[in-house]
Amino acid sequence: MNFNTDVLRNDERAIMCLRSLYKRFNYTEFRMSRFEEYGLYADNKAFLSFGDIVTFTGASGKLMALRPDVTLSIVKSTKDEGGLKKLYYNENIYRPDGFEFKEQMQVGLECIGEIDTPLTAEVLMLAQRSLEVLGKPTHLDVSHMGFISGLLSNEELTTEQSSEILRSVSEKNIPELSRICKEYNLSNAFAERIITLASLRGSYEKVSEKLRSISINDTTEAALNELEEVGKALHKADTKIGLNLDFSIVNDLSYYSGIIFQGYIEGIPTKILSGGRYDKLLRKFGKCSGAIGFAVYLDLLERHTPTDKLINIALPKGRLGDKAYAIFEKAGYGCPSINEESRKLVFESPENGVRYFWVKPSDVPIYVERGAADIGVAGKDILLEYSPDVYELMDFDIGKCRMCVAAGKGFVPEGLNRTLRVATKFPGIARNYYEKLGRDIDIIGLNGSIELAPILGLSDVIVDIVESGKTLLENDLETIETIVDISARLISNKASYKFNFKAINNLCKKIKT
Ligand code: PRP
Repeated sequence: MNFNTDVLRNDERAIMCLRSLYKRFNYTEFRMSRFEEYGLYADNKAFLSFGDIVTFTGASGKLMALRPDVTLSIVKSTKDEGGLKKLYYNENIYRPDGFEFKEQMQVGLECIGEIDTPLTAEVLMLAQRSLEVLGKPTHLDVSHMGFISGLLSNEELTTEQSSEILRSVSEKNIPELSRICKEYNLSNAFAERIITLASLRGSYEKVSEKLRSISINDTTEAALNELEEVGKALHKADTKIGLNLDFSIVNDLSYYSGIIFQGYIEGIPTKILSGGRYDKLLRKFGKCSGAIGFAVYLDLLERHTPTDKLINIALPKGRLGDKAYAIFEKAGYGCPSINEESRKLVFESPENGVRYFWVKPSDVPIYVERGAADIGVAGKDILLEYSPDVYELMDFDIGKCRMCVAAGKGFVPEGLNRTLRVATKFPGIARNYYEKLGRDIDIIGLNGSIELAPILGLSDVIVDIVESGKTLLENDLETIETIVDISARLISNKASYKFNFKAINNLCKKIKT
């Protein structure tokens, strides 16, 4: 039978190209059921970057799950018998996406066994070629968990402190890293190293000297040497591909040990490819093999939007937005039409290379994370509440206030022998805060006038923003504890930052001067 390839949709065509690419390099297909025992995921929660999984009771009465991940199934069913297995897969997975679960198409490959430098280079080369199959221009960034964990191991850090540092590195959040280092009395030398690491990006040749200068022990040295060797092997495998480093790629330390990487395609707002060396996962299954692989998230191709030359900036509507705009204007990014009396929400200044949107303050991170805006200005309160996957590039030092616990005068939460009732617009921040204290709470979610809740007996305390303190004072309430200082931050979409680095970096520099 003749087969006309014109009948293929774009995603189907991409799948065929990727499968034949992997086959050409001797990877064999791995097929699996879409059902797995839920226990597999419950035992490896930190390996998955999300919590919710679709579960159901199987015919035998066991709790089953619709597979949210392919790697765990492959690792579970691969025997530890020496040699090397090179596998590829093309499967649907089921993950939460916004308010619902979504069926997502994944294509990827896994190598399990003895992983050497040429094989690592081959996997990176195939990751780069996979991106090129899907669109152009592309960006493949490489990081090394060994280097990061080597730096962290030189300080005495609790698990919580390490994760706070890792999160800030992943956000390129220099102000936050400085604050954390001060708060935990970490050495100045460590602060300098970790800040250098978070800011580093570029080809291996460009950044290797700086990396060497902050390498402090055998673990960091070994990581650097591996990067150098892999860079050489990659060049041998394909002279057109270079090793691009960016240490803001961070994965869970308990699963990932070595090289990790992420791939981007211009016009797609989030990473479309993600992979790395995950030997520690194999150890958890009692296996001694090494492992490296990557997955391509094909459904993201639907989110492709054409890009233009202007920097799209989301400003929070209101006083904070006016102050933020004044900072951009002073730096040479003015847009006179924004000051005209009108109901318009979008303003362009092609001569200054910018387009502004007025956005509801709590929506700024959504616009930026999803790439509708390249950068935006958001309060730290909003960022802490929603934890968007964005870079936090600068503290604008405006909109300063505090996130506090407050209650009626003289109220002592410790004196209460029942669950504490907390009214708030920030349930995530409140939950995190009380979780750290080990205290059970009932959250009462409100949308405004939070101070009313303890007055009317609806709650015992509130978790809310205090700016001048006037609202508390005039309602006979007082602050019990400050949770965190708040100010407005400049955030950037991660893909935009990579593809528009020059423009966004220039803008940051001009604002700083
Ligand atoms: C915020 C916050 C407090 C008040 C604090 O409310 O939720 O209620 O400001 O400011 P102050 O310390 O200067 O008195 P917002 O004005 O956003 O209105 P809301 O009550 O509708 O949330």
